Amino acid sequence: MMMKDYSYLHLDESTDPEGYVVCEYRVTTDMPMENAASAIAAEQSTGTWTGISTLRDDVFERYGARVTRIEGDLVEVAYPAEDFSIDVGGVPQILSVIAGNLFGLESIGKLRLEDVRFPSCIQEQFSGPRFGAEGLRRILGRPEKPLVGTIVKPKIGLSPEDTAEYVYEAGAGGLTNSKDDETLVDQRFCPIEDRTKAVAESLDRLKEEGHRMVHAVNISTGGHRILELAEKVQSWGAKQIMVDVITCGFAAVQALAEDPSIKVPIHVHRTMHGAITRDPLHGISMLAITRLVRMCGGDALHIGTLGVGKMSGGKGDHDSLEACLDGGSPYATVMPVCSGGVYPGMVGRMIEESGMNVQIQAGGGVAGHPGGVRSGARGMCQAVDAAFLGVHVRDYAEDHRELREALDKWGIK
Ligand code: 3PG
Repeated sequence: MMMKDYSYLHLDESTDPEGYVVCEYRVTTDMPMENAASAIAAEQSTGTWTGISTLRDDVFERYGARVTRIEGDLVEVAYPAEDFSIDVGGVPQILSVIAGNLFGLESIGKLRLEDVRFPSCIQEQFSGPRFGAEGLRRILGRPEKPLVGTIVKPKIGLSPEDTAEYVYEAGAGGLTNSKDDETLVDQRFCPIEDRTKAVAESLDRLKEEGHRMVHAVNISTGGHRILELAEKVQSWGAKQIMVDVITCGFAAVQALAEDPSIKVPIHVHRTMHGAITRDPLHGISMLAITRLVRMCGGDALHIGTLGVGKMSGGKGDHDSLEACLDGGSPYATVMPVCSGGVYPGMVGRMIEESGMNVQIQAGGGVAGHPGGVRSGARGMCQAVDAAFLGVHVRDYAEDHRELREALDKWGIK
């Protein structure tokens, strides 16, 4: 039987951005780049490793992906919008197309999905953040200043009562946010029901004293239980939930964001992302991950520390920041969260990088303060106030004791 040789290269043609999902890949290969790019487009749409008798012209024309640009090691592939499921697909099916088998192709050494753009017919299937950065600010009554938070430390081992006491102290010191850490969900030493109820009491107490604060309860668990757990923690008094997007999946974020019974913002942690984002030549960029989190409805997302803290994110942190706040997106903005090795002496530099629309949070940088959690919280708030007022942290520390003590311990970065 005759097999037709179809070409996936359309380098001189322009494609209608409304008709395609457009991906940019960085490709490392010993093959000629045209061949590598064609192999990607074929594998991810109508082709395979050999010609096939069942591929008709009309199927190829309508559903075949197109290589639309090759520049050095960057390759652009446009996938027809019709290649994507309409009603029941969601992110898993999208990822199977744009980031699926291609990562295992023997002929391609390394491959990185750098960016992805969706046409409006796909964007319309997602509702984006229900609260987003603005919604969080509204809940907290903090329209302009950066949000400032903590991660309860140690990340495991505290009882529900210890956790609630930590949260109360952090709020009494002025913090707007606190959260469970990524490894804490429902261990025997800290059952989630007892913890959520105890923390809710602390937050109520703070509210009575005139301070608004939210705490994100980590509900990261199996897909069959996550909605049920989210509903339960809400009924126990949670004002925010947290989900680890890489370990639980984008679909978990989407399920929570779109379920009408969930009425609190979703804080998205990115633990394990380094396995996917860290190699500059392989994996998936934080930019692409952020676009997906925003589309799926995350209200706040960890973006790293913009080259200042303990997590090494490189350019990806800045790309993620931009994608959280990008005005060209049809969705509400996501609150970017700078987290990982943060302490008061680095807040000024971080805010120079991020601008004021950011949540800055510190675990060790609060709990490690010589005066304890309340003083640590004050030190962080004072550092944010200094940056907000445009005063150098060293000058601001002269009449702000807790900040001074933090600078004496950790210095200024
Ligand atoms: C996080 O969730 O970002 C980390 O647990 C931060 O903890 P740290 O501020 O103590 O580094």
